[in-house]
Amino acid sequence: MSSENLGGVIITGSARGIGRAIADHLAQTGYGIVIADLDESAGTRAAAEIQKAGGNALFRHVNVADRKSVAAAVMACEEAFGFIHAIVNNAGFNRPQHFLETTEDNWNKIMTINGLGVLIGMQEAAKAMIAAGHKGKIVNTASIASRSGDAEWVPYCASKAAVVSMTQAGAKALAQHGINVNAFAPGVVQTDLWTQLDKDLMDMGISSRPGEAMQNFSQNIPLGRTSTPQDVVGTVAFLISPASNYMTGQCLMIDGGMIMQ
Ligand SMILES: NC(=O)c1ccc[n+]([C@@H]2O[C@H](COP(=O)([O-])OP(=O)(O)OC[C@H]3O[C@@H](n4cnc5c(N)ncnc54)[C@H](O)[C@@H]3O)[C@@H](O)[C@H]2O)c1
Repeated sequence: MSSENLGGVIITGSARGIGRAIADHLAQTGYGIVIADLDESAGTRAAAEIQKAGGNALFRHVNVADRKSVAAAVMACEEAFGFIHAIVNNAGFNRPQHFLETTEDNWNKIMTINGLGVLIGMQEAAKAMIAAGHKGKIVNTASIASRSGDAEWVPYCASKAAVVSMTQAGAKALAQHGINVNAFAPGVVQTDLWTQLDKDLMDMGISSRPGEAMQNFSQNIPLGRTSTPQDVVGTVAFLISPASNYMTGQCLMIDGGMIMQ
């Protein structure tokens, strides 16, 4: 680990899944970690486990769609780790519905958390970086769904396309402050999100047995397997490191080759 203070990184949705893997990895690299999540018990446990493994982490109860809670997490990050080096806007969820039956409620919930939550995270982190004069990094979690619409998850695809658009807008707005804004787009990752999707798709009659939906969705992955959260951590580490200083407004696919651009 480096002896220089690398500052803090806020990772939203890091009590479990992809965010948790990112938190573990960045803690090992020497960043102070803020686990920012709705789930208090898993989030507190994650922070304690990182501490036990020799890292530096704290938990903050955050709803990414609630600006006050995000601003409080930014402040907690600065207090604990000196300054905020990066935010990873990773919290997100999906609830599938048939295209013709997709409701306003489903749209509003998904767009609020996956879309507005990313905008608020970028804004609150950037304001603190600008005030501190720190050339920080913003990383947003997009998805293969940002590049390819799917009949059963219209709002989710729209929200992830919005993440890519906001990444580009944020990159242009914040370049003058030396803040890089990039995104990464996972493919099919084995997390609780997919466990829930699998159940939902069975309830909708789209699949008939556990695991079938994931199997169908991933049978043509060129690299021949689904993803684990571990598959994305190196890219996130790169995107918050000086090695990516000349990159901004980009979305890197980490999907085993599902979408080639
Ligand atoms: N799993 C996949 O296949 C996959 C693929 C592409 C993109 N993604 C994206 O990756 C990100 C992480 O997904 P995951 O698979 O780890 O999901 P997950 O369901 O395992 O974990 C999501 C975490 O986000 C938290 N969260 C949810 N809503 C929140 C809110 N409003 N405020 C704060 N925290 C909140 C949950 O409590 C949970 O800890 C999401 O943005 C998801 O859309 C996932």
